[in-house]
Amino acid sequence: MTIIELIRALAEDSPVAICLTDAQPAAPGPLILYANPAFALLTGRPLAEVIGVSPRFMQGRETRRPTLDLFAKALAEKQRFHGQITNYRGDGRKYLVEIDCRPLLGPDGEPTHFLAFEREVARRRGRPGSGVAGRFEPVSVPDSDLPAALRSMAAFASLPPAAE
Ligand SMILES: Cc1cc2nc3c(=O)[nH]c(=O)nc-3n(C[C@H](O)[C@H](O)[C@H](O)COP(=O)(O)O)c2cc1C
Repeated sequence: MTIIELIRALAEDSPVAICLTDAQPAAPGPLILYANPAFALLTGRPLAEVIGVSPRFMQGRETRRPTLDLFAKALAEKQRFHGQITNYRGDGRKYLVEIDCRPLLGPDGEPTHFLAFEREVARRRGRPGSGVAGRFEPVSVPDSDLPAALRSMAAFASLPPAAE
């Protein structure tokens, strides 16, 4: 089973938008190798349009460059990126997306792919609270909380084994 087949089997019917890219951080990469139907829904573009292109196609005027610089640094350093980015749909509407992206590492500790989970950041239901309290807060699971079995798989480590 190839990595694309494995991710497709896990992601195809997920309500969370998921995309898998190759492991080239610099343009023209990373290039999308697989995206699930929820990703097409989130980005407002048919899957046929997103396969083979870089996720940069979602960026626009209000996409913050400093956040993208953090993203680029994380990819270059084989680290996880977890943050919020303003993206644009096929019809030009902007949306805020929470992205959790990590490298999948091969046996040599080098990334073979990047895998991202993306979901739209929406206000919580009900009466909006004051300040940030009424807003969506992303929940981050530290790597130390991953089940031991997952942590022991090189592919899920966020650092190459040599750096641990
Ligand atoms: C799997 C994956 C998913 C990504 N998804 C997005 C995205 O939804 N929106 C976005 O603006 N950038 C996304 N990116 C980041 C861009 O592809 C790119 O890495 C970022 O713009 C930083 O690189 P640059 O400084 O060369 O532009 C994603 C990257 C990867 C590897």
